Amino acid sequence: MNKLTFITPDDWHLHLRDTPQMEAVVGDTARQFGRAIIMPNLNPPVRTCADAIAYRERILAAIPAPSSFTPLMTLYLTDNTSATDIREASDSEHIHGAKLYPAGATTNSEAGVTDLAKLDPVFEAMQKHGLILQVHGEATAPEVDVFDREKVFIDQYLAKIRSNFPELKIVFEHITTRDAIDFVRSVDANTAATITPHHLLINRNAIFEGGIRPHHYCLPVAKREGHRQALLAAASNGEALFFAGTDSAPHSKDAKESACGCAGIYSAHSAVELYAEAFEEAADFTHFESFMSRNGAEFYGLPLNQGSITLERREWTIPDSLPFPGSSLIPFKAGQALHWKIVGND
Ligand code: DOR
Ligand code: ZN
Repeated sequence: MNKLTFITPDDWHLHLRDTPQMEAVVGDTARQFGRAIIMPNLNPPVRTCADAIAYRERILAAIPAPSSFTPLMTLYLTDNTSATDIREASDSEHIHGAKLYPAGATTNSEAGVTDLAKLDPVFEAMQKHGLILQVHGEATAPEVDVFDREKVFIDQYLAKIRSNFPELKIVFEHITTRDAIDFVRSVDANTAATITPHHLLINRNAIFEGGIRPHHYCLPVAKREGHRQALLAAASNGEALFFAGTDSAPHSKDAKESACGCAGIYSAHSAVELYAEAFEEAADFTHFESFMSRNGAEFYGLPLNQGSITLERREWTIPDSLPFPGSSLIPFKAGQALHWKIVGND
């Protein structure tokens, strides 16, 4: 098979930042995807409906024309989010979820939730109004080993949220472990998960290959090869509750290549081609369209995109570097060859 044509895909987890950085990256996503769930971890975060609508306007203004790309907005949950904030958000056709960052878990999570137990009224309101909960599932207690944070979060927190709010729709974001896959499979159809291209393509060795590799550092951090294999199987075998969400997270080259480098991998430049590379390894494209273009829309209760995208088997090389205000941006797999290229977009 040398050509793949499938329904225009969506990115169910994306960081765009804000102007002017956003202007350097939004075109990459708009070129490939119909829609994307836009993460709210700006500084200050997108806390209210009004913040989200204003951010959406800035995104629309930054998209290179012509484009029919649609940003799907989210709120950032804090200790002070109220049931009213949730009701207002759910009344907006532009807001599709609220993101739970445990405080300190990742980039711009300082304003995140410090005590999950206090969020019950918010989860109750989300369940009632049908707003989807997106979860950064990592325990933040300093004594928890960085490679165990996802599993500990499931055991200590996520399992309780799941059983206390059975009708709440939850997306377990950027899963990295077999434990997360097993959790999603073991609960009901109200729980889904996004999987990134980088977690499908690298394991934790890639962070230390011949030296410290800051461009392979993200959160949750990549895990052992066995976990990567399990993610690849979950993505490629057609299960409806797993779908694409790149977690593409631009940071300048300087912020990454530093004594305390930021977490985040920029994959948006070639996101669809990177996912194709992963499915190529699985040697099975049967469910590529489901993973890229159907499962997420169905979980979010949105129609499928109208258009299509075509990839051709053709070797090409990802650029070493991309423009970024005040610095440059190093894309995931910079300078490396990929074997599928987008050749058409209708
Ligand atoms: O690696 C990450 N980068 N993980 C996240 O959860 C946030 C993201 C970012 O915003 O840079
Ligand atoms: Zn993210």
